[in-house]
Amino acid sequence: MRIVYLRPFQGLKAYMEKIIIGNWKMYKTSREGSDFLEKIAPRLKNLEKKVYLAVPFTAIEPLSKEAMDTSISIGAQNMNDAKEGAFTGEIAALMLKEAGALFVLLGHSERRQYFNETDQALQKKVQRALKSDLQPILCVGESLEERDGSRTEEVLKRQIETALEGLSKEAVGALILAYEPVWAIGTGKAATSEMIEKAHLICRETLEGLFGKASAKKIPILYGGSVKAQNTREITSCKNVDGVLVGGASLDPDTFTEIILEA
Ligand code: PGA
Repeated sequence: MRIVYLRPFQGLKAYMEKIIIGNWKMYKTSREGSDFLEKIAPRLKNLEKKVYLAVPFTAIEPLSKEAMDTSISIGAQNMNDAKEGAFTGEIAALMLKEAGALFVLLGHSERRQYFNETDQALQKKVQRALKSDLQPILCVGESLEERDGSRTEEVLKRQIETALEGLSKEAVGALILAYEPVWAIGTGKAATSEMIEKAHLICRETLEGLFGKASAKKIPILYGGSVKAQNTREITSCKNVDGVLVGGASLDPDTFTEIILEA
């Protein structure tokens, strides 16, 4: 069954500007997050860039209120695919939405690795996010073993095709894809420009295969994995790279601001 979502088209503007996403993982209480926002918000005024912060659940509501008059969007790092239900410890899209989240990271490699998140589960999560008017940011990437076994292309294609199966062309305007090679996350060893361009081309072509050239063009593709202020410009100059997803380096307001300015 083909699922059609009718929602306002939001992709193109975001796509022309660079997008910088900070992923705080399980760091920062609401109060620490608030101090962070206070520091960076004034420095980002009048910037033509889209800045997203994926924060811990408890910080979503206070920070989205604080970020209201800034260019920063606040979102979540995960959610359950069910609308609601007896799933102790889980969180639903509508709860995130009501707390003020504008987007949700889905399929981060830490979720895949430590919480057994599968491509099939992600397919349901992507659909639930779109239905709930949350912008899904789908993360994909190969492990070192897969890269060494020359399986990068096969892995990326499988992850993208399964997670996005059944989506209509109309739905893709809200989607962001992040290529994050697992071996580059938190290791200080970012992928080289050549590797990034190759992988992003695979992602782009896979999206074109699914949605056609014109619709696929609306989906920004970001790179993530050991992004720092020093390598941001080189990475964002790569072909088919529309922004960056930053983990560790997004925790410090000065470093993150520098990355935003470099992107
Ligand atoms: P890193 O993490 O920037 O610390 O490598 C990236 C991520 O986990 O999204």
